Amino acid sequence: MYRNNTCGELRLKDAGKEVKLAGWVQRLRKMGGMTFIDLRDRYGITQIVFNNDTDAELCARANALGREFVVEVVGEVAERSNKNANLPTGEIEIIARSLRVLNRSEIPPFTIEDDTDGGDDLRMKYRYLDLRRPCVRKNLELRHKMAFEIRRYLDSKGFLEIETPILVKSTPEGARDFVVPSRMNPGEFYALPQSPQLFKQLLMVSGFDRYFQIAKCFRDEDLRADRQPEFTQIDCEMSFVEQEDVIEMFEGLVKHIFKYVKGIDFTEPFPRMTWHDAMRLYGSDKPDIRFGMPFVEITDLVKDSGFKVMADAELTVGICAPGCASYTRKQTDALTDFVKRPQVGAKGLVYVKFEPDGSVKSSVGKFFTDEQLRQWGERFGAKPGDMLLLLSGPADKTRKQLCELRLEMGERLGLRDKNVFAPLWVIDFPLFEWDDETQRYYAMHHPFTSPNPEDIPLLHSDTGKVRATAYDIVVNGTELGGGSIRIHDAKLQDTMFELLGFTEERAREQFGFLMNAFKYGAPPHGGLALGFDRFVSILAGLDTIRDVIAFPKNNSGRDVMNESPSPIDASQLEELRLEVKPEEKK
Ligand code: AMO
Repeated sequence: MYRNNTCGELRLKDAGKEVKLAGWVQRLRKMGGMTFIDLRDRYGITQIVFNNDTDAELCARANALGREFVVEVVGEVAERSNKNANLPTGEIEIIARSLRVLNRSEIPPFTIEDDTDGGDDLRMKYRYLDLRRPCVRKNLELRHKMAFEIRRYLDSKGFLEIETPILVKSTPEGARDFVVPSRMNPGEFYALPQSPQLFKQLLMVSGFDRYFQIAKCFRDEDLRADRQPEFTQIDCEMSFVEQEDVIEMFEGLVKHIFKYVKGIDFTEPFPRMTWHDAMRLYGSDKPDIRFGMPFVEITDLVKDSGFKVMADAELTVGICAPGCASYTRKQTDALTDFVKRPQVGAKGLVYVKFEPDGSVKSSVGKFFTDEQLRQWGERFGAKPGDMLLLLSGPADKTRKQLCELRLEMGERLGLRDKNVFAPLWVIDFPLFEWDDETQRYYAMHHPFTSPNPEDIPLLHSDTGKVRATAYDIVVNGTELGGGSIRIHDAKLQDTMFELLGFTEERAREQFGFLMNAFKYGAPPHGGLALGFDRFVSILAGLDTIRDVIAFPKNNSGRDVMNESPSPIDASQLEELRLEVKPEEKK
């Protein structure tokens, strides 16, 4: 036995005990004739003391240790004279009697502490060392605890965990596939699954009723803070259900996790918002409702004004920033710069300040009377001391821009507290999305999403207006998950393919196996998938899902630790009958 206690568990009540610990040398300090070591393992840090006066030989060996050496220490637990209140073991130390070096270490490229001197790239290159840092380790512990509670909840509801294949058929709908060449079938490729969607629907046809899987998914898309090329879904499907049943079941799951992992009890049902309202009031299908500042439109009030920008715009819309009338010129200029950044793309920003003394100041004061500006303020419910921020332009674009500004103001005003959680369901998504470039409709969710039964008569006459039976769960402005009730009627599915511009042949080629299966008694079914990485990062209060993944990829999709992706041997290419085209010269 290398140890009989961990570095996180000894307390004052253990004083006098002889213990054996093993771990890594975090830090070594010499003071007078004493040497102190902070010994670290997964469970914490314990101080070890070596006394030159009582055992000079042992102390000399301790002095020769380096950072991250792996050691085994035997000694007696003693009360510390200068206690460390920041450390759970801070009331005790171990008076060392013996020391065994289990392994040496080179000097690590950065300090293995929460407050490290290592930059992002360096830490990713040495991720196995980064993972020794308590703040990173904590995230993986949380991830484990959540996975465990998810299984406990779903098992208690009769869900079966079933694995589905990783080598699947490529389908061009959705994001781009990662593909895998087949050696045994030259010239043919598998794809890695973007989600287990089709398989879980087939499992419903097989009668499995309640399925779930903590499933790896792969998407070759541009990366962001909340997107990785490989990520994990809590993927679920149920038979004989309607939207309400699915929402209730998974609202239950989310509440269970908050309660048993975070100690937060949501007693009320999560609010629901239609997609249309979310876009109109927050300019986003994933509104952050930790704070207010909903959009208010004043297009009608500025239509006939002399201010061309507003008069000619399809939409003039704004938010009321509480208490911001005191913003200086420098601060409003900074907001203008913010909306003009290419990522936001607005042409300019209009402000109206309602001063506490009752006066009105505005960047468009030349074009509007105080009375007109006060009329705007009334519509916003603005109080003295508030400031309106307004944008004008094409409706959809302007709403998106204002969404960015609203989030920025929420940030500046400290309204996006990471310890506050505001979940909601966004429902009634449109079934289709029109693409100007290709001049065709795309499925907003996927081609198997059922239209709202009330809207079926509109499928051909008013396609863009048809609502889907689809729902997203959103927490703090992040899309945590989404799902839908699926089409189980072959005729309706044919109509859907037709509207999406699939020829019968192409539909059969891509989804033939599903269409065949549906001929043999598909039950009504539906489900959803929660992004597991996102769920963990929201609970951990982190800005990126990278921090909750043991070995993540960087923003270019690379693993800088093992240097993948990488070229493969000519012989491997040969075997796969593949040829790599040289990069074209620019
Ligand atoms: P969807 O595509 O909405 O639905 O994905 C479900 C959830 O998975 C998470 N997610 C991601 N997380 C990290 N990195 C990514 N690249 C990434 N892409 C998606 C999000 C998202 O809400 N088959 C359907 C679900 C269904 O209808 O049942 C699906 O995959 O949190």
